[in-house]
Amino acid sequence: MKILLFVLLLGIASADPQIIWLNRQSVANSPTIVNVEVGGNLYLASNDDSAQLQKITITTGTTTVSLDQLSDGKSLKILSNQLTIQSNLLDATAKKLTGYLYVTTAIQANDNTFDVKVVNGPQALNRNGDSTTTVILNTQYKDDFPSFFAPEKTTYVTEVQQFRSNPINFHYGIPGDNWKTFTDNQFFENPQPFDFYDDHGRPHTNMIFFDSVEPMQINLPYWYITAGGPFSLNMDSTFNDEPIHNTTSANTTGVYILNDVWRNPIVNFATDPTRKGYSGVLAYVDLDYSACIIFNNVIKGDANYTMCFGADNKMVHGQLSSDLVSKSLVVNATAGNPGTLYFQYFVFTGELYPITSSTQPPPSTTVTTTTAIATTTGSAGNHDAFFLILAGAFWKYLL
Ligand SMILES: *[C@@H]1O[C@H](CO)[C@@H](O)[C@H](O)[C@H]1NC(C)=O
Ligand SMILES: *[C@@H]1O[C@H](CO)[C@@H](O)[C@H](O)[C@H]1NC(C)=O
Ligand SMILES: *[C@@H]1O[C@H](CO)[C@@H](O)[C@H](O)[C@H]1NC(C)=O
Ligand SMILES: *[C@@H]1O[C@H](CO)[C@@H](O)[C@H](O)[C@H]1NC(C)=O
Repeated sequence: MKILLFVLLLGIASADPQIIWLNRQSVANSPTIVNVEVGGNLYLASNDDSAQLQKITITTGTTTVSLDQLSDGKSLKILSNQLTIQSNLLDATAKKLTGYLYVTTAIQANDNTFDVKVVNGPQALNRNGDSTTTVILNTQYKDDFPSFFAPEKTTYVTEVQQFRSNPINFHYGIPGDNWKTFTDNQFFENPQPFDFYDDHGRPHTNMIFFDSVEPMQINLPYWYITAGGPFSLNMDSTFNDEPIHNTTSANTTGVYILNDVWRNPIVNFATDPTRKGYSGVLAYVDLDYSACIIFNNVIKGDANYTMCFGADNKMVHGQLSSDLVSKSLVVNATAGNPGTLYFQYFVFTGELYPITSSTQPPPSTTVTTTTAIATTTGSAGNHDAFFLILAGAFWKYLL
């Protein structure tokens, strides 16, 4: 009876998904025992030398494989709730390994909408279905003459295509066992929920879909995509060394992942000054030294939308936005390694400005929502009337 109960308990034992770094697997630490879930899948993300991978074995149940057999994104089924890792590498050799193991839960392994991709070179990702999860595991970025700003591990994402405007979200971390309900770790969302305020100051949330998504350099070891419909994109392990990015569409969105490798971004926007516009960010902020995200306004010239964060302003999934048509965006941290800042920027245009100066200026629609304290200084005054006069004058000139 006791044995049966024990077996039952073993059967339902659950464990969190795991990331296990190979640089900690040396002969001195062997064997390493990791709690995992029976029925989960194990993956290797590594472009380390296969001669070294051969010297590390993992045992699950009665199966033992060396890691070199797990390259090319092959998965291994977890057969017992403990994984044993045995390494014959000396400490100094093990420390140089860059790869890691990833273990899913059993539910994730059995979910045919859940997929895992190891990025080690160019790869096209196409997902169909109404609800999919794709985990992206990066291998080490390699370059004979790396730039000072070269990341350790990265995905360069281009050509994001969403069919029928279905939502797509990029998340940092790995999906936990509550990944379908936990939605606070997005660093990119398209569409973006956006609150517009009517004449009575009442908010109306609209979903703003961006047809244009700028190429993204996702400097994370791993991340994941949840999607509410079919999409496609291209992934590569390359680093696009681009200190200044120029957009080509007036309605567009992109991402910066600033952490160990931090270069203050500069984005020049292709603006449409004939329309009202909005600029904003979706941000995760955890800094040791202060940094500001600054949108510079094209029409008002002197007005900036500045969001400053210090070491005390931790923010998770905070959206901050303003009714500013932006000419450019800069981040102005002065410390070399200020901490972590992930942000999605978005700029889009709304209705056309009325072009007769007799029209009332539109009500101010500055929106600021945040889930944490942030020092935020938006455009306080309503300078729209000034623009109306300018636009009116311009119109007369055209006539
Ligand atoms: C980006 O735009 C700036 C001016 O707005 C220009 O000087 C620069 O050459 C452009 N860069 C690229 C790569 O097109
Ligand atoms: C940007 O999006 C708005 C709202 O959907 C639309 O009215 C406008 O035409 C778009 N602008 C461009 C340049 O696509
Ligand atoms: C707006 O930001 C730009 C770039 O950071 C800066 O040169 C300019 O002085 C700022 N303007 C104001 C009014 O702070
Ligand atoms: C960044 O710019 C803002 C606004 O111009 C300024 O108040 C702040 O001191 C600057 N921060 C750093 C770290 O340079």
